[in-house]
Amino acid sequence: ESAGVYDFVIVGGGTAGLVIANRLSENSYTSVAVIEAGDLVFDNKNVTTVDGYGLAFGTEIDWQYESAPQAYAGNKTQTLRAGKALGGTSTINGLAYLRAQAAQINAWEHLGNDGWNWESLLPYYKQSEHFQIPTEQQCAAGTTYDVAVHGTTGPLKTGWPNALQGKDVTSLINATYTSLGLPYIEEANDGSMRGFTRYPVTVDQGLNVREDAGRAYYLPIQNRTNLDLYTNSFVQRMTWDEASTNSTPRVNGVMYTDASGKQRTITAKKEVILSAGALRSPLILEYSGIGSSDILGQHGIKVKVDLPFVGENLQDQTTGAGAYSSNTSFSGTADYVGYFSVADIFGNDTYDLNCTVRDSLLQYAASVVEASNGVLDQKVMEKLFMIHHDLIFKDQIPISEILVTPGENRMDFSYWGLLPFSRGSIHIQSNDSTTPAAINPNYFQLDYDLKQQIGTAKAVRKLAGSDALCDVVTGELSPGLQSVPLNASDEVWAQAVKDSYRSNYHYISTAAMMAQDLGGVVDTNLLVYGVDNVRVVDASVIPFQVCGHLTATIYAIAERAAEAIKNRYY
Ligand code: FDA
Repeated sequence: ESAGVYDFVIVGGGTAGLVIANRLSENSYTSVAVIEAGDLVFDNKNVTTVDGYGLAFGTEIDWQYESAPQAYAGNKTQTLRAGKALGGTSTINGLAYLRAQAAQINAWEHLGNDGWNWESLLPYYKQSEHFQIPTEQQCAAGTTYDVAVHGTTGPLKTGWPNALQGKDVTSLINATYTSLGLPYIEEANDGSMRGFTRYPVTVDQGLNVREDAGRAYYLPIQNRTNLDLYTNSFVQRMTWDEASTNSTPRVNGVMYTDASGKQRTITAKKEVILSAGALRSPLILEYSGIGSSDILGQHGIKVKVDLPFVGENLQDQTTGAGAYSSNTSFSGTADYVGYFSVADIFGNDTYDLNCTVRDSLLQYAASVVEASNGVLDQKVMEKLFMIHHDLIFKDQIPISEILVTPGENRMDFSYWGLLPFSRGSIHIQSNDSTTPAAINPNYFQLDYDLKQQIGTAKAVRKLAGSDALCDVVTGELSPGLQSVPLNASDEVWAQAVKDSYRSNYHYISTAAMMAQDLGGVVDTNLLVYGVDNVRVVDASVIPFQVCGHLTATIYAIAERAAEAIKNRYY
């Protein structure tokens, strides 16, 4: 049964999908449908509560995918969280609004993406943003900014929460970061991130609620008559226009199960845009017959476009935690972040690490190629890893992020490696779209990733033990001196890191924007290679990890994609 006919059908009303829906429906002659598996969550306290990070985990709005057992980390699986709601993962995330380092966006251009660099992306970051200038009180608490790099008229409200931790805590934390030689940065979103600061978040200060994609991009335009939203509707696959005389295959809609469980189709006259997230969009491509012919063949799916890189190149980061007891109780929102370069973490050992990693690149490439069953290419991976290596060791972009959260009689640190080399994959495991996928991020597959995480865990211990905190921090709760003594070897640290890590939930690159011979799935307009009218617009297309958190960059990419779509048709 057909639900209707539209110019554009968007699969997934998430972070990126709602940007596309908003921008395309600005033209009242353009009809747009959004199909979203989840429901509206504007009244869900687990979503709206500004300080409520984690409340939504494990509830009905968390897909909580499960990874394959992680061979390089004790064979345990990991829970991979993602939002199932209008607004997608922006409804359950940590709210951080942090972009990227200019050099790493510039690196995209070396991957066959002409015109994609920091300079050309910056206008789209701004276009998406409505920066709420901090109040005097917030400035007194230690917020700083450069309004020139922010947008002030876009849909997405950013800024600082109302209840900030005060000046005294800020001075304490600033002195702590400074003890490791890290400079203060006034503005974290101008493309140069090394240093520490209080970072902005996605928040509606007036309503004192989380600002997510639904609130920013859908609520204000929900009454447009050319925009239809289908919630609780799960897309299985796209349908092909068998009558098309176009030399490149065209799709003409999607198949989905509606809120009542009925099987339906919906027609797209112009394009289908996949915005189902990095752990879904590649699967929808595969179910539709776009992917590796080997994998599709195994599951009896007819190959429409042989595109072996669909679902490859999966990259994520790993998070660790350090917890300390404290004689002081701090209240209010803590938003302290430090971005450390390789030299900040490894000091005099940086030179040796550089040599070791450079000498390992061929072997890193070989491991990744082997793990991909030969889908990825040795020479290509060497090239990609050389670019990756140079970002770390030549450009010295941040490799580690450390957040400090002073709380009730405790001081928590969380940290993660920003630029792991390890790569994995995501693929379908049957021809039934309700079967969970095989998701393997291959955490700690390559030894730089572990070394980086150990170096950062040690830096956390140094921060906690700094002079600045000695009157406040009273003991180490985790990892704890029993399991990781002060003079612990790297082997002992490695065990502690692997025993307690979690996914950082920054999955990317499963339908990467790159030249096709480098392993790309979409071109610079985010059109899928070999198909006339399908785009992927979400975290799947990000080819290399970013130092910031993902949404800021995803909103910018989606703004730019919407413009590319408009350019094609108007
Ligand atoms: P997103 O997940 O937003 O959207 C996909 C949508 O498609 C979802 O609504 C989903 O329900 C829907 N969908 C999936 N399959 C479907 C199907 N078959 N049919 C129909 N609909 C379907 N980033 C940041 O900037 N700051 C932060 O603090 C954090 N913190 C953080 C914490 C946690 C716990 C997580 C999980 C993630 C973060 N992130 C983050 C990451 C960031 O939030 C995330 O990368 C983006 O929101 C992803 O945006 P996408 O548009 O790619 O997918």
